[in-house]
Amino acid sequence: MKKIIKTEERLAKEQVIRLLLTLQEDAVASISESVDPVDVLRLTWLGKNSEFIKLASSMRTVPTEDKQQIGAVLNGVKVAIEGTLSKKQQSTNAATSEEWFDTTEPGEQPALGHLHIVTQAITEITDIFNRLGFTRVRHPEIDWDWYPFEALNMPHSHPASDEWETFYIRYPGMPGKDYKKQKIVLTPHTSNGQVREMEKGILPIRMINIAKCYRRQIDISHTPMFHQFEGLYVDKNVSIGHLKGVLDYFAKHFFGPDRTTRIRPYHFQFTEPSFEIDISCGICHGKGCKLCKEGWLELGGAGMTHPQVLKNGGVDTTIYNGFAFGWGVERTYMMKSNSNLDDIRLIYGNDVRFLKQF
Ligand code: FA5
Repeated sequence: MKKIIKTEERLAKEQVIRLLLTLQEDAVASISESVDPVDVLRLTWLGKNSEFIKLASSMRTVPTEDKQQIGAVLNGVKVAIEGTLSKKQQSTNAATSEEWFDTTEPGEQPALGHLHIVTQAITEITDIFNRLGFTRVRHPEIDWDWYPFEALNMPHSHPASDEWETFYIRYPGMPGKDYKKQKIVLTPHTSNGQVREMEKGILPIRMINIAKCYRRQIDISHTPMFHQFEGLYVDKNVSIGHLKGVLDYFAKHFFGPDRTTRIRPYHFQFTEPSFEIDISCGICHGKGCKLCKEGWLELGGAGMTHPQVLKNGGVDTTIYNGFAFGWGVERTYMMKSNSNLDDIRLIYGNDVRFLKQF
């Protein structure tokens, strides 16, 4: 009988030890993973209603000879739980101090950009022409080739249109293989806006059309996408004197009084007579450099609007005539003496170090 009791007591001891070790395992895993505050975890695992305290109080019923062994395990479990709790406390402290921030501290300055130089140039150009009564208008940058070519005296496949190195548009599902016959183009010049503006039927006209243009060109002074600004003045008794006056006003206000312009006879299908307008180079000041070669830079074309173009736009040529000019925005900007820009491709190179200078 005595032997049996002893066996039961031994089983009870082993059970207590097993329970204590399982409790330790559970406690360590649960405390490590929990997001609860350490104080709450301490109450759960070592508080007076905890499983640990219940097992500790069962020590009273343990036979004397087992007390020492169970006591040692009990102590070991407590040390392990305490240790896990204090590790948790340390990592909570560290995380809290990392997250803490002073809300009264001034914020970090965000890097401030500025308008791109082409946008700046467009704003300035618009402003100067506004002062002369020219209003900025917008016309399509993808257009029927009638407006940039045929309406401007360049019938389809006329050799004059070769100069414009045009991109033709193909679109999914476009019928036929000869996409040139579909006659949709990326406008190679803003002159497409001339007849479009006349078609509005409001006279007189004083427009400045600024838009993107596209040509199959790329080198130091050409990009495949660039901007032009196109002036058109249609009124009664317009003369070359008016054209020269407007161009001089622009040059004086955009480039400054030290820059000079010159007018050369030229040929465009849509102006008669036609001119090429040049300005003295702002980089070499007329001496000749890798950008201009001879001291002069071509700004763009101009001329008196061809009567057929006026007719194509529905304007009565017995009453009205006009002039037009079209210059490149990027090239015009490059010719400013302080721009120091000797390669047009830099403008679209997306190098912030370069763009920051302007
Ligand atoms: C024309 O485009 C005519 N439409 C100008 C005109 C308008 C004449 C009205 C008469 C009356 P031109 O092809 O020369 O002309 O181009 C005008 C300007 O656009 C050039 O002088 C240049 O400043 C700019 N330009 C032309 N091609 C490019 C290019 N690929 N990259 C950058 N700028 C360009």
